[in-house]
Amino acid sequence: MLRTHTCGELNERNVGAEATLCGWVWKSRDLGGVLFVDLRDRYGFTQLVVDPAVDKELHEAASKLKGEDVVRVAGEVRLRPEEQRRDDVPTGAVELHVRKLEVLARAKTPPFNLAEEELEVHEDLRLEYRYLDLRRPHMQRNLAVRHRAVKAIREYLSARGFVEIETPNLMRSTPEGARDYLVPSRLHRGRFYALPQSPQMYKQLLMAAGVDRYFQIARCFRDEDQRADRQPEFTQLDLEMSFAEEEDVFDVTEGVFAASFREGIGVELEVPWPRLTWREAMSRYGRDKPDTRFGLEFADVTELFKNSKFLERGHKYAEGAAFALKVPGGLTRKQLGDVEQAVTAEKFPGVMSFTVGGNGEIKGPALKHFPGGFGKQLLKYTKGEEGDGILVCAGEFGHAANVLGTARLKVADVLDIKKEKGFNFLWVTDFPLFERDPATGEPVPSHHPFTSPRLEDADKLEAAPFDVTSRAYDVTVNGVELGSGSVRIHDAALQRRVFKAFGYSDEEIEARFGFFLRALEYGTPPHAGIAPGLDRWVMVMRGERSIRDVIAFPKTLRASSPMDGSPAPVAREQLDELGLTLKDEGPEGK
Ligand code: AMO
Repeated sequence: MLRTHTCGELNERNVGAEATLCGWVWKSRDLGGVLFVDLRDRYGFTQLVVDPAVDKELHEAASKLKGEDVVRVAGEVRLRPEEQRRDDVPTGAVELHVRKLEVLARAKTPPFNLAEEELEVHEDLRLEYRYLDLRRPHMQRNLAVRHRAVKAIREYLSARGFVEIETPNLMRSTPEGARDYLVPSRLHRGRFYALPQSPQMYKQLLMAAGVDRYFQIARCFRDEDQRADRQPEFTQLDLEMSFAEEEDVFDVTEGVFAASFREGIGVELEVPWPRLTWREAMSRYGRDKPDTRFGLEFADVTELFKNSKFLERGHKYAEGAAFALKVPGGLTRKQLGDVEQAVTAEKFPGVMSFTVGGNGEIKGPALKHFPGGFGKQLLKYTKGEEGDGILVCAGEFGHAANVLGTARLKVADVLDIKKEKGFNFLWVTDFPLFERDPATGEPVPSHHPFTSPRLEDADKLEAAPFDVTSRAYDVTVNGVELGSGSVRIHDAALQRRVFKAFGYSDEEIEARFGFFLRALEYGTPPHAGIAPGLDRWVMVMRGERSIRDVIAFPKTLRASSPMDGSPAPVAREQLDELGLTLKDEGPEGK
């Protein structure tokens, strides 16, 4: 090795010893001629001292060093003067008095200052120079935590009989609800592979294959609109278990999360986690991934809206409901405006706003739509007091809850309501098998079509799809959906019926899923599983706002890479070989 120690290693015990370090020039200070340089590597930083009184030539060379130059230095480890010691870093008590300096690589001036704790530059610039961005200690910690979490995951599951198996990245498309990334085939012209949106069908086939317990740190690909917690290419901890039910999956999931938090960030998670049914979560918080770190729970006021026009507008399959959110102390006009603006984006229905005056009198422009006595009842349901505000939303169950759910989050935001510290993990269970398409009112699958309905609901599949409860569950934390899973269908006939209920024709079923149905006909055990998204998982562990900060080389919100310029045009010959011609070159083409 070119070095005897790393930059994070030297301490009081090394005082008097000779050491050789390699690293990047981080911060330099010239104090009355004596040069102090912090030399940084992945492990930390060490203060170097270059005194012109000791070696003029060396000092001259050191003065020419610039940020991010890579150097090798040798010298003696000494205690820092008392007043310069730092106890917040492991190397804070010592410094290296340099006797020899060798420049290993010169650096151009970086496009941003790596020494800043909070970088205030456009993210595209960070992504273009990602290798510089990743040098920052904060990003190094993110990478290290991710590594430790994955290591803990592997150890925990391996110790419990799970086998890690890789599944193909070139496959037939799986219906996970997003658009596929397609890969043209050279050998089979006009045919395409799809990159997996998840290994869902493969892991079920592994259960058919008798693997019993499978996991994979699996790369998934989805061509969908990007957000802070969405990437075109992301990673799941994918797992599946045979002869298992909900409780078995909950148990393993809680265990593996607890192990990763312990090893990754030294936090002991409290398990088991609370559970809410989807209906409870929606009726109390207006979200299927509720942030339960603060109160502001809804009151169900559907009773007050019975026979009113507000509930008639729901779709024929969907049930009407009304919820009220009490805002202790009320909102100012400006705050109410902000909340209303947040919900407007979600279209009808909007929220009705009331206030509680003296003598418990309810006021609000919407009162005129209701019979006398409405105000009193509303007060009773919400336990409102003088000065409080009450927001109400009525309409189709899921939509009304969601709209008020948006209002709830915005209220917490504008009132700066303190969120409890920590990690409020939660299981959300009993999802409906179908959701209502907001545009058409038609049933669309809530999860993928391999999710088992509750068997007692199976006969409602065709006649009353919205009444069918699934055996799907989500793990959520602090308002973030971390993962979903379900007990699967293992019976070919039921699977066929569910495909049909999801709108697939017999031909489509045969073409897309024939091979899968066949496997179910050869003795597939009952099985269940889950797939938490690893990027969101580590994002939550590190308190980051975007998964891009815990992925080494992520894409931008436009699914591109400013560093290597992908996606990029390809040579005409490459297209010819694949038998492809472009209809147009797109707005970025030549
Ligand atoms: P689902 O589609 O709900 O389920 O995905 C599971 C988890 O994967 C993460 N995730 C994403 N993370 C980053 N970027 C994305 N574009 C993205 N999409 C999803 C989320 C999500 O909760 N096969 C099923 C799981 C199963 O049933 O076992 C599946 O993929 O954290």
